[in-house]
Amino acid sequence: MSTENSESVNPELESLRSGVAACEQCRLHTTRTQTVFGEGAADAEVMFIGEGPGRQEDLSGRPFVGRAGELLTRIIEKGMGVPRSRVYIANIVKCRPTVDMQFQRDRPPEPDETAACSPYLLRQIELIRPKVIVTLGGPSTKFILNTTTGITRLRGRWGDFRGIPVMPTFHPSYVLRNGGDQSPLRREVWSDIKQVLERLGWPIPKRS
Ligand code: URA
Repeated sequence: MSTENSESVNPELESLRSGVAACEQCRLHTTRTQTVFGEGAADAEVMFIGEGPGRQEDLSGRPFVGRAGELLTRIIEKGMGVPRSRVYIANIVKCRPTVDMQFQRDRPPEPDETAACSPYLLRQIELIRPKVIVTLGGPSTKFILNTTTGITRLRGRWGDFRGIPVMPTFHPSYVLRNGGDQSPLRREVWSDIKQVLERLGWPIPKRS
């Protein structure tokens, strides 16, 4: 595990980032403020994959910085016991999908948007070569595991992406919409994360 964010020392990742910043492969580029490439350690052992940027992410250019991001950060820092910069965080699509392109409410990416953007994610996975992928929610789980099975059935069970173990878990936004910190879903996410720690051989932090 690296001790700091080493993204800047990976020129291939940086050149991919530049390609993404100029991308006009699908309609989402017309409403974005900026692309959200992903961030973290270039040699991260764990890669989290979400759906797509929301409003805060579109404005800041960083993944998972809104309310869902705060929960994800707690899961990483308290649940896994490492700084967020030790893992890599990316999304299936790099531009914010909004309902009717009105830039108000978020929506999951459409299949053609996912198809247009997914080569970027696949290249990120190839370059980072994580030991474990954690998919957050239905859309990223369906995409990575190439399945139509819902997240409720898949979470907590190991899958495989080209030889990389995949742990599907609930999306932090879903946990927040269903009770947040008090929700039983939160405990399920915690137990999924524990499986990831065991697989990596990382110590399991004491719960406060
Ligand atoms: N939800 C996602 O799936 N990704 C983000 O970056 C933020 C919220």
